[in-house]
Amino acid sequence: MELTRRRNLPVEAVMLFLLLNHFANAGISKNPCDFPAIFNFGDSNSDTGGLSAAFGQAGPPHGESFFHGPAGRYCDGRLVIDFIAQSLGLPYLSAYLDALGSNFTHGANFATAGSTIRPQNTTLHQSGFSPFALNVQWYQFNDFHRRVKTFLTHKDDRVFKKLMPKTKYFSRALYTFDIGQNDLTAGLFQNLTVDEVRASVPDIVGQFKTVIKDIYDQGGRSFWIHNTGPFGCLPYVLDRQLVTAGQVDKFGCVGSFNDLAQFFNHRLKQTVDQLREELHKASITYVDVYSVKYELITKATRHGFEHPLRACCGHGGKYNYNMHIGCGGKVKIKGKDVLVGKACEDPTVMINWDGVHYSQAGNKWIFDQIVNGSFSDPPIPIGFACYKQY
Ligand SMILES: *[C@@H]1O[C@H](CO)[C@@H](O)[C@H](O)[C@H]1NC(C)=O
Ligand SMILES: *[C@@H]1O[C@H](CO)[C@@H](O)[C@H](O)[C@H]1NC(C)=O
Ligand SMILES: *[C@@H]1O[C@H](CO)[C@@H](O)[C@H](O)[C@H]1NC(C)=O
Ligand SMILES: *[C@@H]1O[C@H](CO)[C@@H](O)[C@H](O)[C@H]1NC(C)=O
Repeated sequence: MELTRRRNLPVEAVMLFLLLNHFANAGISKNPCDFPAIFNFGDSNSDTGGLSAAFGQAGPPHGESFFHGPAGRYCDGRLVIDFIAQSLGLPYLSAYLDALGSNFTHGANFATAGSTIRPQNTTLHQSGFSPFALNVQWYQFNDFHRRVKTFLTHKDDRVFKKLMPKTKYFSRALYTFDIGQNDLTAGLFQNLTVDEVRASVPDIVGQFKTVIKDIYDQGGRSFWIHNTGPFGCLPYVLDRQLVTAGQVDKFGCVGSFNDLAQFFNHRLKQTVDQLREELHKASITYVDVYSVKYELITKATRHGFEHPLRACCGHGGKYNYNMHIGCGGKVKIKGKDVLVGKACEDPTVMINWDGVHYSQAGNKWIFDQIVNGSFSDPPIPIGFACYKQY
């Protein structure tokens, strides 16, 4: 009995040491950040109602897989930002522009579909790009922040208090960004060459940097920045006349456009490195969403998906996409108006929803890959993104 015990004790001690060491290395010694709010900036990838509030609702069948009807999203259900909010224990974000039913106690969403980083010199009607470029989203955030501070000093504004974040949330919040793709496609759709668009990237990322620095100056500390996806694999880009047959690679994507996306991403990552040097108290996580989306599209079958280059909701053609007859629009068939609805049998096996945007199933898959930090620099899970190291 004595002997056994003497022999066993050191073993247990070693085991305990190894276990503690394992937990320490795994970062379990750190507490989750407990983000009280999310402030999001971006384009349709994360628009939860902004463009719909300003220019009319994205109609049925948008939203039907989850919200049972239109919910301001260009998707059949939830977006990556919805899964992010959910994973942090926060409600889905209200769009800043939504006048009715909004609740900003745990954040606000300034993203709108079609947004660019640089303001465009065309209207939404002319080009399809949103007038709410990142600079406008930033004006809106500034005013939101200022007004929250003003209203909360009035002791009897109970109604507002139930709808607004606490002032201290602005420094503890997670600031999320997913924007840039439209700056690149805007140039290409104006028939600029890939090289000409490439030449504009330093200006684009420069304007992005200015916004991050200003949010930091206002007290923001935790930033979660998505890079841009392989838009050379999206139906709305593939269907354009600017793509000729010879340009597509073995996956059916336009390689030179994906290279352009990667060039942008490279410069974005350099910008993030500069920001880390300049903003000492900031934790900035760069998330390689490109690689996740590329893996999903190019190895769709392996991940349980079908027809990676076809839209679920659309009308006609190789990609089930027609830029003049979009998802939720109307098409005349034998003199009758028919809704452009879901053409795919099962949206849960489709990656692309409407030719431009990912399906809820695609978004969930993407979220599952990025949430634990495997695609982040530094490799920090989202719940710990207030730390510089993990
Ligand atoms: C819009 O026009 C201004 C003034 O000519 C120019 O500086 C800016 O770069 C243009 N923006 C884009 C996105 O082309
Ligand atoms: C807004 O949401 C918060 C948290 O979900 C809730 O506590 C609050 O009562 C809501 N405000 C209103 C006016 O419903
Ligand atoms: C771009 O080129 C295409 C094909 O030549 C043409 O149809 C389209 O009008 C051009 N777009 C612009 C904005 O110049
Ligand atoms: C992160 O999650 C993905 C998807 O669930 C998984 O394949 C990967 O192994 C995870 N990585 C880590 C470091 O936990």
